[in-house]
Amino acid sequence: WSKTGHRVIGEVAQEELSGKAKRAIHKLLDGKSLSAISNFADEIKADSRYREFSAWHYVNVPPGKDYKDIEPNTYGDLVTGIRKCVEVVGNKKNPKEDRVFYLKMLVHLVGDLHQPMHVGRLEDKGGNDIQVQWFGRGSNLHRVWDSNMIDDYGLSFTELANTLPSLDKKARRKIQAGEVLDWVKESQEIADKLYDSVEIGEKLSYRYSYDWWGTVESQLHKGGLRLAKVLNDIFK
Ligand code: ADE
Ligand code: ZN
Ligand code: ZN
Repeated sequence: WSKTGHRVIGEVAQEELSGKAKRAIHKLLDGKSLSAISNFADEIKADSRYREFSAWHYVNVPPGKDYKDIEPNTYGDLVTGIRKCVEVVGNKKNPKEDRVFYLKMLVHLVGDLHQPMHVGRLEDKGGNDIQVQWFGRGSNLHRVWDSNMIDDYGLSFTELANTLPSLDKKARRKIQAGEVLDWVKESQEIADKLYDSVEIGEKLSYRYSYDWWGTVESQLHKGGLRLAKVLNDIFK
């Protein structure tokens, strides 16, 4: 996702934190909110000192295959990246500076895991090579999902977070069930449908947004609830 998507996920997660997690995170982030730090991992991409983290934003799983059956990317991926973050943040013996860095990474990566095209195919770089038009301008399937649909919706991240349906505890717990690999599988299944949702060079506009906005909202909502779950488990 681009900025707004990650901020929505941070906002949803913030509201779902346990008291203990909220206090621990408040201390680590010097009072900053999850939405405020949710784009840190993209901001450091331009800095060559952080090159080792650039493959952590996505994972490519061929259609019909499971993550556990694929050859892992030597540079890491969303799954190994999230695992490393959980490990570093969860160990109180680690220097605060490291725990803060990996906490910021974690908030972003759990968000990216819920952008279906971040769990897309290697041969087209998660849809980056699938050119389409968005309201008459050049775009691609990855970008439509990262930013075009969300930006054109025209709401701020707080407004967007407030339009998400309020779910009772049981519904929230159901969404939070499972773990990273289950959520990867779910994104992969959505990505499969999204590959079928466009033709190369297709002119996309209102109709596409209308058809898929519910999926955008539900992925942002799930991302936020699951991020809270991961954080609540770390700070138990
Ligand atoms: N961004 C850059 N490369 C990517 C890939 N292979 N899959 C998904 N997103 C990407
Ligand atoms: Zn992206
Ligand atoms: Zn990212």
